[in-house]
Amino acid sequence: MPSSPPIGLKNSNPQVIDMKDYNTRLLTPSPADIAEATAILRQGELVWIPPSTIYGLAADATNEAAVAGIFKAKGRPQDNPLIVHISEVAEITPYVAEFPAVAKRLADKFWPGPLTVILPRSEQIPASVSAGLSTVAIRIPAHPVARAIIKAAGCPLAAPSGNLSGSPSPTTAAHMLADMAGRIPAIVDGGDSQVGVESTVVAIKGDKIRVLRPGGVTPEMLQQVAPAEVASAVTNPLEEGAVAASPGMKYKHYAPQARVVLVKGSPAAFAAFVGEKAATQEGLYALCFDGEEEGIPVPCLTYGGRADAADQAHRLFTALRQLDDTGARLVYAACPSPEGVGLAVYNRILRAAGFEVITLDG
Ligand code: TXA
Ligand code: MG
Repeated sequence: MPSSPPIGLKNSNPQVIDMKDYNTRLLTPSPADIAEATAILRQGELVWIPPSTIYGLAADATNEAAVAGIFKAKGRPQDNPLIVHISEVAEITPYVAEFPAVAKRLADKFWPGPLTVILPRSEQIPASVSAGLSTVAIRIPAHPVARAIIKAAGCPLAAPSGNLSGSPSPTTAAHMLADMAGRIPAIVDGGDSQVGVESTVVAIKGDKIRVLRPGGVTPEMLQQVAPAEVASAVTNPLEEGAVAASPGMKYKHYAPQARVVLVKGSPAAFAAFVGEKAATQEGLYALCFDGEEEGIPVPCLTYGGRADAADQAHRLFTALRQLDDTGARLVYAACPSPEGVGLAVYNRILRAAGFEVITLDG
C-alpha cells in the first residue's frame, strides 16, 4: 500500500492520533479518500468503516478470500456469521432468496438505521459470510459516509464490529487502533459513533418479529410494524446444549480484561455494597451513573445518567475500554434499566459480566 502523509484525527474525541505509529492509513470522508477506501475494498482488502452504530471491519461480501480476511484479523470464531451492508433497499434483490412483506415494512420504516434483518440467503452471498447458515443478515447503515463507500464500491460489504473478537466494540478510530493497529490497511474516520451499541438484529417468523440482539431500534418501535418478541437469550444465558438462534449469543462479549459484576439496587445500596468490599479487594473500580459517585470509596467511572439510556448506549463501550486502561481487576457495575434502548445497554453489560449479577435489597 503506498503511504500517505499522516492525517490528524479531528472529532469529538479530543485525542489526535499520530499515524506514524501505524501502518494503517487514516482516511477522511472526502471524495478522494472514499475513492481510495473503495479501491482497497475492490482489491479484496479490509477497511474500517463508520456505520454510526459502532465501527465495522468491512470487506467485499461477494469475495470469499476477502471475507476470510475478516475472520482472521479479528480472531473471530468461524461459526459466527457476518452482517452484510447495502446502501439502498433496491440493492437487496440479488442477495436474498426471499424478501417477505414484514421485512419490506421494516425496511421502509427503519432503513437506513440501526436494524439488521435476517433473511433467506441467495447464492450470491458465499456460505462463509453466514457461517454456513441458509440465512443472511442485512442492513443499511445510517451514516452517509458508510453508504457512500458501499455505493462507490459497487458491492455489498460484510462487516462485523471492528474490534478484536471478545473485546468491547469500537466507537472511535482510536479504539480500533488500540486493538489492531497496523493489521488493517485503512480506516475511514466518520467521527464518534452516534448510537454507540450495535444494531438491533431481528429474525422474521411468519408475520412475527423476533429480537435476537437489542439495539437502537427498540422492541416498542418494532411493535409498530408487527408483533415483536424478545428472545430469551437476550437477557439469560443460553441453556446448555441449546442451539443459538444467533451464533453471537454463545460468546462472552464486550468484555474488558477485568472481571465485571453487574449490581442491581438503588444508588445508596450500591455505594454501601462497594464500600463493604473496598477494604478487602485490590484493583476494585465502580462503573456507575453520572452524579452517583458520591459515597463510593473506590475510583469510579460513569457511563451516562441513570435515566438516559441513549447516553448510556453512547458511552458504555468507551467506559469498558477505559477500565482496561486503569488496570482495574474487578468492576462492580451499576445496572441500567432495561427499558427502550436501555435493553441494549443491559444486554451488553450483562454479557460483559458473563451474566454475573448481584441483586441488593433496597
Ligand atoms: O451495528 C452493527 O450491527 C455492526 C455494524 C458494523 O454494522 N455490526 C456488528 O456485527 O455488530 P457483529 O458481527 O459484531 O454482530 C453480528 C451479530 C452476531 O451476533 C451474529 O451472530 C449475528 O449478528 N448474525 C449475523 N448473521 C446472522 C444470521 N444469518 N443468523 C443469525 N444471526 C446472525
Ligand atoms: Mg461484534
